[in-house]
Amino acid sequence: MTQHSYNVEDTERIAGDLARTLRGGECIALHGDLGAGKTQFTRGLVKALGGDGRAVASPTFVLLHVYPTKSLTVYHLDAYRVHGIEDFEQIGFEELLDQGGVVVVEWASRVSEILPKAHVDVTIEATEENERLIRVTFV
Ligand SMILES: Nc1ncnc2c1ncn2[C@@H]1O[C@H](COP(=O)(O)OP(=O)(O)OP(=O)(O)O)[C@@H](O)[C@H]1O
Ligand SMILES: [Mg+2]
Repeated sequence: MTQHSYNVEDTERIAGDLARTLRGGECIALHGDLGAGKTQFTRGLVKALGGDGRAVASPTFVLLHVYPTKSLTVYHLDAYRVHGIEDFEQIGFEELLDQGGVVVVEWASRVSEILPKAHVDVTIEATEENERLIRVTFV
């Protein structure tokens, strides 16, 4: 289903709708260009789970951020600068998937080979300065 977002709050609300379906163990693959709203979406997800949205930032340089929430721990990764799946293997990506939390990956297509077969694809496309098309697909 494709949804329209006209501001940051819309994007966070759409992320919140997804958050309410999560039970733990899911992997969310985020797709979209620079500035599309992948981090904003993650912030909405963390907030909806009862975590601190202010802590959410692109884990571009450290690769992994961990956000505790009232319910599930969110593991936030960014594949933008990885050179190969080895970088992800090194930070223990496979183990993260087994923690019973939610694993969120920005630029997920760069590490598509090691994504679990069952995951949630979230594609964000900027159509105007503040407009986004967001598609959530359970794969
Ligand atoms: N409808 C919208 N939804 C989400 N973000 C929006 C929207 N309209 C404007 N923005 C702006 O777009 C930017 C999205 O930035 P964000 O860091 O979330 O992108 P990103 O996809 O994570 O980029 P990167 O690949 O660089 O990590 C923010 O500055 C936000 O304020
Ligand atoms: Mg980001």
